[in-house]
Amino acid sequence: MKITILNGSPRKGGNTETMVNEFARGAKEAGHETEILPVGQMDIHGCLGCKYCFAHGGECVQKDDMQKVLASIDQADMVVFAAPVYWFDVTAQLKCAIDRMYARGGVGFHFNKTALLLNSGSDGVYEAAIAQYKMMGGYLKWEDKGIITIPGMESKTSMKESKALEDVYKFGLSL
Ligand SMILES: Cc1cc2nc3c(=O)[nH]c(=O)nc-3n(C[C@H](O)[C@H](O)[C@H](O)COP(=O)(O)O)c2cc1C
Repeated sequence: MKITILNGSPRKGGNTETMVNEFARGAKEAGHETEILPVGQMDIHGCLGCKYCFAHGGECVQKDDMQKVLASIDQADMVVFAAPVYWFDVTAQLKCAIDRMYARGGVGFHFNKTALLLNSGSDGVYEAAIAQYKMMGGYLKWEDKGIITIPGMESKTSMKESKALEDVYKFGLSL
């Protein structure tokens, strides 16, 4: 299947990038086609709530990098949401991309499988992000393929030294 991975971290070469690369390595070995989109570093503005998309067949009025994301998820069978925790939630950059997926709310989503990959400094900080993910997926009838949370990410290279990285690889491989 085609898997689009949305990396919501703004930090190049950080823990989330390492995490998504490892997930993609496993998924590719399992025979899937993956595309990683660094939405945390792309020019994606917040949804304007104008509902232009609802009157224009799902086309968004804003012509920024979200066009690339929408083009990718329109081909995808699965979308993976990945982010570091920022103040007990996903990053604003990932949330911007998620909000902009509203453009497909009226016409429907091509994919129906999802996963959530999170990492953070502390443990016990995932409740809000997981609640949002589950509520959205439940509402849109997406099939949750799994959630991975990796705490203990104190420095930029923590993920590279983490044993949990193998779980991420195996998760990709298991799909
Ligand atoms: C603005 C900001 C807010 C953060 N908030 C939290 C938090 O609420 N809880 C936590 O455990 N870690 C928090 N962290 C730490 C990051 O989640 C952690 O370092 C993560 O691995 C960074 O991922 P990256 O290397 O992809 O940038 C925060 C970091 C930043 C920069």
